[in-house]
Amino acid sequence: MAAGGCARSGLRLPALLLLLLQMPLQPRAGGAAGAAPARWSGPGTVPQLQSVFLGRCAEFLALLRPELRDKNCTAIWEAFKVVLEKDPCSVLPSDYDLFINLSRHSIPRDKSLFWENNHLLVTSFAENGHRFVSLSNVLYGMVGDFLTWCRQKNDSGLDYQSCPTSEDCENNPVDSYWKSASVQYAKDSSGVIHVMLNGSEPTGAYPVKGFFADFEVPNLQKDKVTRIEIWVMHEIGGPKLESCGEGSVKILEERLEKMGFQYSCIDDYQPVKLLKCVEHSSHPDCALNLAVASVQREVPSLYAGQSVSFIFPLLVALASVAQM
Ligand SMILES: *[C@@H]1O[C@H](CO)[C@@H](O)[C@H](O)[C@H]1NC(C)=O
Ligand SMILES: *[C@@H]1O[C@H](CO)[C@@H](O)[C@H](O)[C@H]1NC(C)=O
Ligand SMILES: *[C@@H]1O[C@H](CO)[C@@H](O)[C@H](O)[C@H]1NC(C)=O
Ligand SMILES: *[C@@H]1O[C@H](CO)[C@@H](O)[C@H](O)[C@H]1NC(C)=O
Repeated sequence: MAAGGCARSGLRLPALLLLLLQMPLQPRAGGAAGAAPARWSGPGTVPQLQSVFLGRCAEFLALLRPELRDKNCTAIWEAFKVVLEKDPCSVLPSDYDLFINLSRHSIPRDKSLFWENNHLLVTSFAENGHRFVSLSNVLYGMVGDFLTWCRQKNDSGLDYQSCPTSEDCENNPVDSYWKSASVQYAKDSSGVIHVMLNGSEPTGAYPVKGFFADFEVPNLQKDKVTRIEIWVMHEIGGPKLESCGEGSVKILEERLEKMGFQYSCIDDYQPVKLLKCVEHSSHPDCALNLAVASVQREVPSLYAGQSVSFIFPLLVALASVAQM
């Protein structure tokens, strides 16, 4: 047994080394073959963009919102792909107008979930739109979630090597897409609005320049929104850099108040914290409460303190009662 274990772990190390050695070799080999160095600072177009887009669209309509079945994924793709024919620094949010027009749909009341600096946590907490409906859970946000796309600078093909980010140029295809989608999402949100911020983010939980601040807050509809609930989440074990009423969170609270919205702010909203705790179940900050913690301490002492001679007759007694 022990020898077998050694053999397996002996095999794993060279395999890992091989992988690490291969990874940096691939781009270098490409460079040596004469490919131009990456032009832009962002990742390139995702492989199989059209298939991923159409597959996500079809799944959304078939499984998640069957009542929207009359939407046409082919038409939505054709409206989207006009930006793939444009110079990658000349794509405006308005270039997505027809795409948004064809793909937009209502968002259930009280289900909207806005966020900054929490993408993966929001993805798992929203639970595919079953618990909350973040922008990534509406059709026009889902088809592009986690993806990148752009045309080559000087050619009609797609650039699979790199795409511009806001560092390269403002009017890049991906930022303009999220601006356009964010505006629509905010306009269509109603009831209680939820906002998940990251109180462990060194640059501030509420980026005063960002999609939420610049494209969503200004488009929330006063007549449709009943109140706004802010959740400031901290990493398990810290750091707690900002909480409700502090720093950039205070800036947001003051802004919402000035706009005339009712709002509340909750630090480490419990349901989200419990989800974060799935990854940190033994951390002291993840003990559910004192009662549960004390039960956990007492159970082992029962088995350690009392001998089997006590527990075994008890089980026999229970079994004979059950048979009667
Ligand atoms: C969907 O849109 C495409 C492209 O515009 C069109 O050719 C097709 O006929 C449409 N399908 C339906 C069912 O309307
Ligand atoms: C979007 O749809 C509306 C009708 O729902 C229409 O009035 C408008 O012109 C459309 N916009 C575009 C860009 O197609
Ligand atoms: C919150 O921000 C910190 C610091 O940038 C980061 O390490 C952490 O992954 C973020 N949490 C989530 C859920 O994205
Ligand atoms: C793009 O193409 C034009 C004309 O074909 C050429 O003059 C220019 O140098 C090219 N620019 C780059 C960055 O490749």
